[in-house]
Amino acid sequence: MEKGRGETLTKSVEEVRAEIPFLRTGIIYLDNAATTPTPEPVIEAMLDYYHEYSANVGRGLHRAAKRATAEFESAREKIARVIGAKSNEIIFTKNTTEAINLVARGLDFRRGDKIITTVFEHHSNLLPWQQLERERGVKLEIVGSSKECLLDPAEFEAAIDKNTRLIATHHVSNAIGSIQPVEEIGKLAQENDIIYLVDAAQSIGHMPVDVGRLHCDFLAAPGHKGLLGPQGTGFLFAREERIRELAPLLTGGGIVDDVELHASKLVEPPQLFDAGTPNIPGVIGLGRACEYVMDIGIEKIAERERKLIELMLAIEENSRVKVYGPRDLERRGGVVSFNVSGLGPHDVASMLDELAKIAVRSGHHCAQPTMRHLRVNGTVRASVHFFNLEQEIEKFVEVVEQIARELGT
Ligand SMILES: Cc1ncc(COP(=O)(O)O)c(C=O)c1O
Repeated sequence: MEKGRGETLTKSVEEVRAEIPFLRTGIIYLDNAATTPTPEPVIEAMLDYYHEYSANVGRGLHRAAKRATAEFESAREKIARVIGAKSNEIIFTKNTTEAINLVARGLDFRRGDKIITTVFEHHSNLLPWQQLERERGVKLEIVGSSKECLLDPAEFEAAIDKNTRLIATHHVSNAIGSIQPVEEIGKLAQENDIIYLVDAAQSIGHMPVDVGRLHCDFLAAPGHKGLLGPQGTGFLFAREERIRELAPLLTGGGIVDDVELHASKLVEPPQLFDAGTPNIPGVIGLGRACEYVMDIGIEKIAERERKLIELMLAIEENSRVKVYGPRDLERRGGVVSFNVSGLGPHDVASMLDELAKIAVRSGHHCAQPTMRHLRVNGTVRASVHFFNLEQEIEKFVEVVEQIARELGT
């Protein structure tokens, strides 16, 4: 650990890299928007569970069960600390998608209610609302017109009417990297007494996310992306005043106070959402991961990612490379989406892997409406985290330039 400004102890890039075993394979990992590699302390926390107290939670009275329950529940506090929430506002899910579906299925939407979302959402923040449109007669209004895929609060203002129940937007676009004006949209929702859900899949762990500042009622997030937690984990923040309006997706064992043959009395939230045996090691690992990113410092992560993205944008110097999304770096998260003229995105991604072991994603990035909006079938997407090195980005720029020069048109 190095001594940073203000006497705080924070982790350096080298320390973090040394603690991520996957990076020892020599890969240049620029696919962090899909999922992130897991640091050793997070793996160790999960191993400790398997080695020392591998019991179920919320049930047994033996020492292993008590410890498992305490560690599992403490993950709520650790997550809450990252987003400025209370621990009883945190519901564990298996990913962001489940967290959004929980809101869509768990609130009592009725025919005539209006939901506003945007063209630039990940499919996981669009299909659950489409399902409500089909099954419950909800009216779905979709806004978003900017070329840079930036949302304009005025478009929401124009779309709001007396039937509007919910606004759902992403914070940072996974396909393009745009940072959205979520605080302003949240304020607008609050002023109009509309529920606001933020999909924080690409912001959590990458930049400060504070549910108070966002004025959101719900925030859906993964454990396995910016937070460096294990795959198969995520959570839903549900504001204390709203959590009781939500019905759980699952019902059954583990969430009851009393059960008779035709009736049952259920426990209070957030444990109400833990029916069945949950992903105990995953949740414990996620708790540890939250501490880990807080040890690095989320402001520090954001600052470093901004620098890496600025370096990465050098690919634009080649006229055969087109980068999508905001020009203003303040409005761009840790994602660069681009194409090389004359080549398909999958070809470019395969060449980056073959030529230099560089891992990127290619295709529509589960955001087909965004791709249609940009009039492309897909893009190549490179996405960073704190642990990426300047030399890795330079290598990436060099190989993209080589591909464009030798094979682009
Ligand atoms: C913006 C956004 N929303 C939702 C999701 C879905 O996340 P998960 O895989 O955790 O369900 C993703 C995944 O990439 C995403 O980037």
